Amino acid sequence: MKTVFVFNGPNLNLLGTREPDVYGAATLADVQQLCEAACARHGLALDFRQTNHEGVLVDWLHEAGRAQAAGTALGAVLNAGAYTHTSVALHDAIKGAGVTVIELHISNVHAREAFRHHSFIAPTARAVMAGFGVRGYPLAIDGLVAVTVA
Ligand code: DQA
Repeated sequence: MKTVFVFNGPNLNLLGTREPDVYGAATLADVQQLCEAACARHGLALDFRQTNHEGVLVDWLHEAGRAQAAGTALGAVLNAGAYTHTSVALHDAIKGAGVTVIELHISNVHAREAFRHHSFIAPTARAVMAGFGVRGYPLAIDGLVAVTVA
């Protein structure tokens, strides 16, 4: 059974209480359940994580790239939070690791402040999704399956 990684970046541990008008009422544990259900539908295993630290995301992307190269993982859904808009290191990590990434945002970042309109992840991502709320997570898993399974 292959694994799908779902990596969450800074402040996503606050889901449920953080700006609920923007991000909704669901918690990160609720999001994990949505992802578990999506993976179960596809016969895949889920590895779901959150960190507030950029370097940890770099290490996890490398790990996901190694697992993908070894044939044990499909790729990763990545909500890098604010690092999306700042991190050349994450851009380089995705490229360097050769991991298939679906970039995901809960909110429609393009309808928000101008500083959220640029993504350092997008040029390295296989696909980009934003604005579906937390339901975007299972959709992103469906999308990762669609682009990776022949
Ligand atoms: C986010 C959007 C980012 O701009 C923001 O910094 C986040 C969450 C989203 O899921 O909508 O932390 O990635």
